[in-house]
Amino acid sequence: MCGIVGYIGNKKAGPILINGLLRLEYRGYDSAGISTIEKDKISIMKDKGRVKNLYNLPGINDLEGTIGIAHTRWATHGKPSKENAHPHMDNSKTFSVVHNGIIENYHELREFLSSNGYKFYSDTDTEIIPNLVHYYYSKDENNDEFKFLRAFKNACSRLLGSFAIEILCKDYPNNMIVVRKDSPLVIGKSDGENYLSSDIPAILSFTRNFYLLNDYEYAVLSRDNVKFYDKDLNEINKKTETIEWNASSAEKDGYQDFMLKEIYEQPTAIRETIGSKLNEKLECSFEELDFTKDYLKGLNKIYFIACGTAMHAGLAGKNMMEKLCKIPTEVDIASEFRYRNPLVDDKTLCIFISQSGETADTIAALKLAKSNGAKTIVITNVIGSSITREADYSIYTHAGPEIAVASTKAYTSQVVLISLLCVYFADVLGMDNPNVTNLKEEILMLPKKLEETLKDTKKIKDFAKKVYQEQDIFFLGRGIDETTAREASLKLKEISYIHSESYAAGELKHGAIALIENGVTVVGIMTDPNLVDKMVSNLQEVITRGAKTLIITNQDIDEKRFDVVINVPKTSPFISPILAIVPLQLFAYYISKEKGLDVDKPRNLAKSVTVE
Ligand code: F6R
Repeated sequence: MCGIVGYIGNKKAGPILINGLLRLEYRGYDSAGISTIEKDKISIMKDKGRVKNLYNLPGINDLEGTIGIAHTRWATHGKPSKENAHPHMDNSKTFSVVHNGIIENYHELREFLSSNGYKFYSDTDTEIIPNLVHYYYSKDENNDEFKFLRAFKNACSRLLGSFAIEILCKDYPNNMIVVRKDSPLVIGKSDGENYLSSDIPAILSFTRNFYLLNDYEYAVLSRDNVKFYDKDLNEINKKTETIEWNASSAEKDGYQDFMLKEIYEQPTAIRETIGSKLNEKLECSFEELDFTKDYLKGLNKIYFIACGTAMHAGLAGKNMMEKLCKIPTEVDIASEFRYRNPLVDDKTLCIFISQSGETADTIAALKLAKSNGAKTIVITNVIGSSITREADYSIYTHAGPEIAVASTKAYTSQVVLISLLCVYFADVLGMDNPNVTNLKEEILMLPKKLEETLKDTKKIKDFAKKVYQEQDIFFLGRGIDETTAREASLKLKEISYIHSESYAAGELKHGAIALIENGVTVVGIMTDPNLVDKMVSNLQEVITRGAKTLIITNQDIDEKRFDVVINVPKTSPFISPILAIVPLQLFAYYISKEKGLDVDKPRNLAKSVTVE
């Protein structure tokens, strides 16, 4: 939820840390701060509000320290304020800490520390960490090179919850230590300097070589070296992994916002997703998987499990899987799946979808499915993310870094990958189905059709200008188009703050039609030839009650009946959400711009939700 950065090298740490935070701001942006070691003293500078506010802090440009840690916050414990902003120090000003995650037993630890004379100045769970480290540090009479590490490890072994923690100690000005558990953290290795970050893109301009930490592993960074230790402080070896993303993929490249850039990157992103999985001869292969026909035939159920937009990608996959592979398929919200004793056993295949690979609920749901004996696949965009270390199989979307909080290219590439998985399973099962061949042909044509969809955006921009001040907007669809309605409605809510509902169009008349009054905007999505007539009738019901209508379709309809009609290219109905969502992503985008909002960083939201 929060973003953390660290630097140790020979350059001034301050500007590097702030720069890194600016790139991580999508993870949280209600307060920010940095801590460096200045002439053997810990310095902390922090404030409420956006990262750029740090530039105005008196003395920030005078910092000389070449080692430092930094944090941009998305509040969980304690409101956004300077006091609650990270970094936090212990009472003796020996340690400073930044932390991403939640310490679940912090009340108990705070009481323990209070009874030992420690005072607290913030409402955060984090402030207990430097003080707990100090508690162990002050009790350790052995002043060797490992004293700092020992105290940190002793403190961390008492923490429950999720955490990625960076810590500095004024007595060890050439070391910074980190640990993680269920929270993202990567270490970037460079020449004579090393970097830390919650996410790869923030430090991609400095290095493409990364170390990945597993839960409860400690890394001690110095300028020339990184040493790794397991939870009992035995030294372990690690190799770097090279990340192929280039630095410009994490920049705006002339676009006003990351979201707009990412919308326009969709043709390229899905080209990468299709990659080597499907060739011109319509041969589909997944080298990552080793499923036999017997295994797939023996499945009692497939689950798609995810949160938010990623869950919508699962919804898009359900029908495809059932129709093409004849395997009963369910879609579940990860935070619900976990708590309802789902019927999952060794004959169930659970497919988890997560752009970031760090979503706490999705990871917990995966662990549950595994413990019930199910095989688990994760579809993710981030190599080495936490969920990939838990899943039996990891399949990557290769969409490139997605920075805007509202997901666009990650969604379309997830749906593409799911459709590839469906045709692959159908092939393994030996399904003789003309729909499979047709779907493969259509998947290969998708990048071009997406380019076409993005060519003319004037109509949608004009309509957004017309309706941006509205209070409520409704999205209707049937069948696969209901999935697009859901995703479009979520996108609009997230970045425009307009109240919005999505409905299975046939369901509207069973209650929600009471909300339709003169002038309200209704968006109808119609891509399934079998359901067009029914959709038109449902839309007529709202038009009769005075609604303005925007239609997204690839069918031949009587356009005069509606206010605005946007045509998208025809494709297989299974994958029409990939094209139909694009004008609606732009609809949400232009409304948000028209309202003067921060498109990339909508209020109250963060890019990856590492709390439950
Ligand atoms: C919406 C959005 C969220 C995420 C959800 C899951 O635009 O981005 O709904 O889809 O928080 O995140 P991941 O995919 O990282 O697990």
